[in-house]
Amino acid sequence: MSVPQHVAIILDGNGRWAKAKGLPRTAGHTAGAKNVETIARDAYDLGIKYLTLYAFSTENWNRPDEEVEALMKLLGSYLKTCKAVAKKNNMRVRVIGDKTRLSDDMQKQIRELEEESAAYDGFDLTFAINYGSRDEIVRGIRKMNKEIMSGDLSVEDITEENFSKYLDTADLPDPDLMIRTSGEQRLSNYLLWQLAYAEFYFTPVPWPDFSKKDLQEAVEAYENRDRRYGKV
Ligand code: IPE
Ligand code: IPE
Ligand code: MG
Repeated sequence: MSVPQHVAIILDGNGRWAKAKGLPRTAGHTAGAKNVETIARDAYDLGIKYLTLYAFSTENWNRPDEEVEALMKLLGSYLKTCKAVAKKNNMRVRVIGDKTRLSDDMQKQIRELEEESAAYDGFDLTFAINYGSRDEIVRGIRKMNKEIMSGDLSVEDITEENFSKYLDTADLPDPDLMIRTSGEQRLSNYLLWQLAYAEFYFTPVPWPDFSKKDLQEAVEAYENRDRRYGKV
């Protein structure tokens, strides 16, 4: 099998990485945020076309206020610097998730970044922020139902293919490979619909230490798998 076109990553283990070093959890998030740009570059070098990163889940609001604040601050400042990086690297950037709960400033940053980078086609980077797959599916059902109620859509139009267009990932192909760092082997509400046929790869390496070599190993494991797509 060739290089996966679309790789989705659950960036996990920032807190444990920091704890092991005797540092506060937020130091782990700072190191993790730094690694995002590096890995995006590495993914591009390896021939990956789409990279989707889980940065903040709908459940992450339940963390202590201080930590949520630190995460939002890091994400906000990353989005700001991301504009120049997107331009330099011909990279399209998108955000999936319910943006309405994010601060006005962050929503503005996201809007500008998505608009400015919409025509760049060298690489595709997507951040999942305030993202939860169940929430995304429910929002999709609501959107579709509104169109049915207004008569623009009929019940027969509810097909798998059509429904995909009502998800935040409407313009993205489904991921081929899902990687979760730091040892946990669960999806934590990530891309439940879109990962229906993806290969899963779990590594004990925490996100701040996840390197090009680790990404390469994941890609190689993917390449060596025998994909049957429902065939016997
Ligand atoms: C991932 O690291 C970052 C986010 C979820 C935002 P964690 O903060 O989950 O780190 P651990 O899992 O507690 O080590
Ligand atoms: C999943 O990681 C969410 C993100 C990486 C943003 P968590 O660390 O929040 O997930 P759980 O709580 O271990 O399931
Ligand atoms: Mg975690």
